[in-house]
Amino acid sequence: MSGSINRQILLVEKPGGKLGPEHFKLINGAVPEPKDGEALLHVHYISLDAANRAWMHGATYRSAVEANTVMAGAAIAEVVASKSPELKPGDIVFGDTGWQDYAAVPAKHLTRMPKIEPLTHLLSVYGVAGLTAYFGLLEIGKPKGGETVVVSAAAGSVGSIVGQIAKIKGCHVIGIAGGKDKCQWLTSELGFDAAVDYKDGAVFKALRAAAPKGIDVYFDNVGGDILEACLPLMNNYGRISCCGAISQYDGTPSAHGPRGVPGLIVVKRLLMQGFIVMDFMKESDRALADLQSWVAAGKLKVQEDVISGLENTPKALIGLLAGENRGKRMIKV
Ligand SMILES: NC(=O)c1ccc[n+]([C@@H]2O[C@H](COP(=O)([O-])OP(=O)(O)OC[C@H]3O[C@@H](n4cnc5c(N)ncnc54)[C@H](OP(=O)(O)O)[C@@H]3O)[C@@H](O)[C@H]2O)c1
Repeated sequence: MSGSINRQILLVEKPGGKLGPEHFKLINGAVPEPKDGEALLHVHYISLDAANRAWMHGATYRSAVEANTVMAGAAIAEVVASKSPELKPGDIVFGDTGWQDYAAVPAKHLTRMPKIEPLTHLLSVYGVAGLTAYFGLLEIGKPKGGETVVVSAAAGSVGSIVGQIAKIKGCHVIGIAGGKDKCQWLTSELGFDAAVDYKDGAVFKALRAAAPKGIDVYFDNVGGDILEACLPLMNNYGRISCCGAISQYDGTPSAHGPRGVPGLIVVKRLLMQGFIVMDFMKESDRALADLQSWVAAGKLKVQEDVISGLENTPKALIGLLAGENRGKRMIKV
């Protein structure tokens, strides 16, 4: 590959406030030579995740991203050369390649993926989004038929799948999303029973009207004010699956936490548990079998938002944080 150009997007500065295009720069680098144990990858699809922004704040379940390095990010990529016995050219893998055309990555940090069509499903329903929805809802939320399940960021990649799985399990499902169009889409296309537009104000009142029997399971993707609105509506012994806190990622987080913690948790005997999808990877075969059967039966609709061009990656992440996406957003490199 020597002589080829490797386009790379650097994070040139960590944002103090809101993320903007000025925090990134596109450069032409060299295609790296894989070292022993590494594979050289050609990146096909880059996953855009709210977490990309959270990594800029500091170490989380992974180390922080630093200024003047290639922006970190997960992708689906093809092996073009390998100095590891575990991978061969033509293999399709998932891993953190960063935002670039080519990356040399240790094989032990890569997951070999099946060659399915379309490949994009390996980032959406059969990737982190689908598995996060599946395990976060079923293992932590433990919804039972007839219960009321509420999910925030409901039109996003995880939320749209959570709501549909909860419907498959026979629950009354309410999505919280920004804007009338997204709310309409949740009820008319994805089969949610109701949707609350949090940008319309008065989330608590709208939720109380949509959930007259209270909330049994809240799948929390956003934290902040929406978590605060859900807490008083939780039923005794309700479960809150803490998946993420997107309302706190971009810009300066609000100085206030959700009120009612821990008082409401004690009085209502709530279970509130965070999780990272990697915790469940040993059980992924079971989840993938269920997800595949629901997709095949037409019970689970897959929504993807694919944008072409590596150069558009920063804009696409900024737009995702502002709520531009429906379902799983990714870049076709
Ligand atoms: N625990 C894990 O292992 C794990 C794995 C994957 C993802 N996550 C987390 O899961 C959450 C959802 O991720 P995702 O990939 O589904 O998201 P996504 O597809 O990237 O969509 C994010 C959506 O969040 C909404 N949003 C943005 N700012 C918001 C705010 N201040 N308040 C309420 N909603 C806001 C926007 O939609 P609106 O138009 O509705 O505002 C946006 O489209 C994130 O917090 C992410 O970090 C966790």
